[in-house]
Amino acid sequence: MSSKACLPHVFLVSFPGQGHINPMLRLGKKLAAAGLLVTFSTSAQLGSQMKNAGSISGHPTRLGDGFLRFEFFDDGRTDTTPTLTYDKYMVQLQRLGAISLRQILENQMKENRPVSCVIGNPFVPWVIDLADNLGISSAVFWVQSCSVFSVYYHHFRGAVPFPSQTQPNLDVKLPFLPLLKSDEIPSFLTPNDSYQAIGKDILRQFSNLSKPFCILMDTFEELEAEVINDMSKNFPIKAVGPLFKICSEMETKIRGDCMKAADECIEWLDSKPIGSVVYVSFGSVVYLKQDQIDEIAYALHSSGFSFLWVLKPPYVHLGANRHVLPLEVVEEMGERGKVVEWSPQEQVLSHPSLACFLTHCGWNSSVEAMSLGVPMVAFPQWGDQVTNAKFLVDVFGVGLRLSRGANEDRLIQRDEIERCLREAMEGPRAVEIRQNALKQQKAAEKAVADGGSSDRNIKDFIDEIRKR
Ligand code: UDX
Repeated sequence: MSSKACLPHVFLVSFPGQGHINPMLRLGKKLAAAGLLVTFSTSAQLGSQMKNAGSISGHPTRLGDGFLRFEFFDDGRTDTTPTLTYDKYMVQLQRLGAISLRQILENQMKENRPVSCVIGNPFVPWVIDLADNLGISSAVFWVQSCSVFSVYYHHFRGAVPFPSQTQPNLDVKLPFLPLLKSDEIPSFLTPNDSYQAIGKDILRQFSNLSKPFCILMDTFEELEAEVINDMSKNFPIKAVGPLFKICSEMETKIRGDCMKAADECIEWLDSKPIGSVVYVSFGSVVYLKQDQIDEIAYALHSSGFSFLWVLKPPYVHLGANRHVLPLEVVEEMGERGKVVEWSPQEQVLSHPSLACFLTHCGWNSSVEAMSLGVPMVAFPQWGDQVTNAKFLVDVFGVGLRLSRGANEDRLIQRDEIERCLREAMEGPRAVEIRQNALKQQKAAEKAVADGGSSDRNIKDFIDEIRKR
């Protein structure tokens, strides 16, 4: 086994968000296990949350033939500083983050750990410029689907019409993708979306994509063959996922959680019959209105199914109240339901008692569930989630979609939620989506197995790093 100083050093920089940290850390584990020295970096605030949650220790960890270590950069944010708006934070992240990160990268050289490659991810395109200025080669790790990448890319190029103020309901036709209705493209690209600034930030990254020598993606060729092939004509793409599948048995003590996961849910799941539990989670960012929580609670209540529900406390900056479940539901729930603030989702989704996943369709949750053969009920909110839902239901056939009511506040009503849960749990549709989910699980296993498409791609990438 080589000493740390002799190993090629890869430096990963993740945007400070759970949905970015998780896949990036999985990539880091995989690269370390293959014999590289990997430094994982995100903001100091999230770094300290990860430490407090017991997800990481302060010491470098040996994984396979390599090492994984952590260094966090200062973005001016702490748990006690006032929260900034998204726009202001993105400016501050770039301004302070770039200064702090430059210092850290320069120190690597002084401390005899020269960096062979910096890997950035979406929302931090300035990381690529920083690497360029320091003469270090770079790669990007796109953490959403290749189909979503293609939608953003075509919008960036401007050669295909997208919904606009004058044509808000325009369908979008892109090569090798199904026809996307205006509410099936990433919502940040729609004319009246309140988060268009996020869409603009994502689009801006495409101007920087000629610099990285590789664009890694947490997807697999068998899942998105045609669009990966098509986008590979323009970009040096390597599909290396599902990274979750590759890393699930690897050093589970190193995790990306910024909140302590309620490990007792596994014991609770152990007490339930096989294939009987509905898992409900909306990822790390979505915060539903209390009215919508009530509708879900009553649907679960009247369905009679057992359920495990992640009800995350709201981020402080939302200034929102914690959700409360209707008293009637709490009183009658007993052992049939379990509510936690954060779950060990990888283990939950792998548990035999699980029957289906009511999900917001974040790409990580979608890939994790597909690669474990878990059928989904799609409850997307915004961003790429709406596009992922379209693919999960209409292309991959692993889920069912809830319909929004015609009511003014666009709530999804309890009857509709209960109807969909039943359809996903019992009867012919349930059998069909479960079979499709199992097909995707097999395909994912094949992709990451020795000699599979993702395995070859990651090995090629590692070979390239060794040459740098
Ligand atoms: C964000 C965006 O919202 C999403 O649309 C985009 O695709 C990725 O970035 P997030 O909303 O957090 O992500 O959802 P998701 O992509 O599903 O990632 C959540 C991660 O947290 C998953 O890896 C999931 O396993 C993990 N998780 C979630 C837990 O470990 N425990 C939980 O209780 C909930």
